[in-house]
Amino acid sequence: MAKKHAEGYLSAKEARRISKENRRITNALEKKRKRKNVPESEYLTQMHDPNNAVEFDNLHTYFYTDAGVVKSVDGVSFNVPIGKTVGIVGESGCGKSVTSLSLMQLVQRPHGQIVDGEIRLNLGDKAYEISKVPQEAMQHIRGNTVSMIFQEPMTSLNPVFRIGDQVDEVIALHDGAGKSKEDIKARSVELLEMVGIANAEGVYKMFPHELSGGMRQRVMIAMALACSPRVIVADEPTTALDVTIQAQILDLLRQLKDKINSSIMLITHDLGVIAEMADYVVVMYAGRVVEKGTAEDIFFHPAHPYTIGLMASKPVVGKQVDKLYSIPGKVPNPINMPNYCYFKDRCEMCVEGCSGAYPCEIQLSPTHSVSCYRYYDQKEGGEA
Ligand SMILES: Nc1ncnc2c1ncn2[C@@H]1O[C@H](COP(=O)(O)OP(=O)(O)OP(=O)(O)O)[C@@H](O)[C@H]1O
Ligand SMILES: [Mg+2]
Repeated sequence: MAKKHAEGYLSAKEARRISKENRRITNALEKKRKRKNVPESEYLTQMHDPNNAVEFDNLHTYFYTDAGVVKSVDGVSFNVPIGKTVGIVGESGCGKSVTSLSLMQLVQRPHGQIVDGEIRLNLGDKAYEISKVPQEAMQHIRGNTVSMIFQEPMTSLNPVFRIGDQVDEVIALHDGAGKSKEDIKARSVELLEMVGIANAEGVYKMFPHELSGGMRQRVMIAMALACSPRVIVADEPTTALDVTIQAQILDLLRQLKDKINSSIMLITHDLGVIAEMADYVVVMYAGRVVEKGTAEDIFFHPAHPYTIGLMASKPVVGKQVDKLYSIPGKVPNPINMPNYCYFKDRCEMCVEGCSGAYPCEIQLSPTHSVSCYRYYDQKEGGEA
């Protein structure tokens, strides 16, 4: 193997070796993926709990880059119960978006691949194992069963088409069988009204740039909800908006979710948004889930030092501090993850076992679990 000069430095020879190896792995995975006429029996599965809409089970999603393998999602497990909102928090780059893109099979291929684990999606009468679903079947799931709301609505709407044409297209594609053009238009206007757009007929004829950010996000929500999906993935849906508009959009999401009884996977940096919306919270760090529980577990009894740090770094109304707490250090390099707890180098609460292997999941209560050596004495109490 060529000599490494500094962290991250690769000789040309080694870069070639890595990219050859990557091609070998991704070609094999792509070949499997591109097979035609895959029988449904190959990707049918059983939900472990029929009350869940989605079950992520030990998901591994990797990117095979020329600098090495980026383990963006490295063994993530959590459930999204039907009718509930699950908040996913964690700092930038911890794998939140890649987890949700894996559910939609929208990870950038061929170098991004689900390499291990399962994502079980509940379709009511049956369940699918998403990582095995072929492309044609996935087209039908996206939009109909799972739909996504992105952070920046301007980049998701096409600037050169009128709002109405874009909403019509979604309906025609997913729900258009037997509908005339007028029916589709009526449904689009109805959807725009449903998301609280006044003068829906007028907005129908406008271009995206004529609308404000909040209005554009409402249009995106209308498009995402056009087919009453079972799961709505909202990736930072309000980050690009002002706080007042943010509150309106969150209210709207909550109302609509209850109306169609779907589940929301809400990805955000903002703990305030989580507190307001989520029933369950999953805290991710460097591609792994470090803690999960109900919103109450996480907000009132945070257990992992990272979660405790996150809670301490959020401003509290009425409490005056000179400087907000910030977690020291930085996230480890995703290409060379340490073989001990990923948070150890930044942790201010280390205990004796911390230099050992990556800690396993400890069940603190039926709903609350954490991966941290500080709780190993409770392990007998009921490990997962
Ligand atoms: N197409 C890609 N190629 C290579 N690496 C990628 C790719 N997409 C994501 N990654 C890497 O995967 C890791 C997780 O990325 P992800 O986008 O899921 O982070 P995130 O938690 O959503 O962050 P943010 O809060 O900033 O949106 C990061 O280290 C990122 O660099
Ligand atoms: Mg993201």
